[in-house]
Amino acid sequence: MSNISISPGKNNVGAYVNDLDLNDLKENQTNLIKDILNKYGVVFIKQQNLDSKTYQNFAQSLGQLVEYPRLKGLENYPFINVLERKPTDKSIAFGGSFLHQDTSYLDKDRPRYTMLMGIEIPDNQGNTIFSSGFNSYKKLPEEIKEKIRNAKGVFSSAGPISKTRRELEARSGIKSAQVMEAEHSIVHEVNGQKSLYISPGHLMKIKINEKENEEIKKYLIDHVNKDEFIFSYKWDKGDIVVWDNLSIMHKASEVKNCTRVMHRITIK
Ligand SMILES: [Fe+2]
Repeated sequence: MSNISISPGKNNVGAYVNDLDLNDLKENQTNLIKDILNKYGVVFIKQQNLDSKTYQNFAQSLGQLVEYPRLKGLENYPFINVLERKPTDKSIAFGGSFLHQDTSYLDKDRPRYTMLMGIEIPDNQGNTIFSSGFNSYKKLPEEIKEKIRNAKGVFSSAGPISKTRRELEARSGIKSAQVMEAEHSIVHEVNGQKSLYISPGHLMKIKINEKENEEIKKYLIDHVNKDEFIFSYKWDKGDIVVWDNLSIMHKASEVKNCTRVMHRITIK
């Protein structure tokens, strides 16, 4: 019998799954992790230190792996992307500075989950910041909920976040692909729970009416950035974090003069 327990993250953003050993994963545990993702949006599993094969197998147990269109894969494990920050890097980290939902600029086949494992973690910096779309939606005034009920957002790979991504692509030798753009509802429902889907790093426009589009866009971006919806997650080496891009926004925090390496897998 397993003794797995869960404890919510700060501000009820995500949940830690305690006493779980992913080296010895059982099928019912995969289902439990999916349930926790549906309820909390992101799971934190401390100090697993999996080898690449076991890591990839765990990801596969959650869904179909997809190649991330913007980054190269690990040798022999093409689905594992390496995110590396070097001490000499001056720019903000990949995915930094703007909350976002990964690849929201894809029309169909938006990957659902993103998974990271901490490979090399600097002391006292390099947190990942999560914002709960569930919690921020719940706290919206009814009047705003009504206004955005059927609203669409326009999301672009050339949105505000694209500057950091372009720098990373230049370094890894991958040429910037063409701009990708998609429209999605800005309210999604996951297992009966409504969530804000506004990916500020990619959001170009919210379509309500010409008079209010810009004002509501700004209002919602300010709203999801409020402290009460945020959890700044401190990594340890070997930690595995999985989030559901439908219900969780994230961004990197600033890192200086250090090495930070993460292995990332994207899951449909
Ligand atoms: Fe991201």
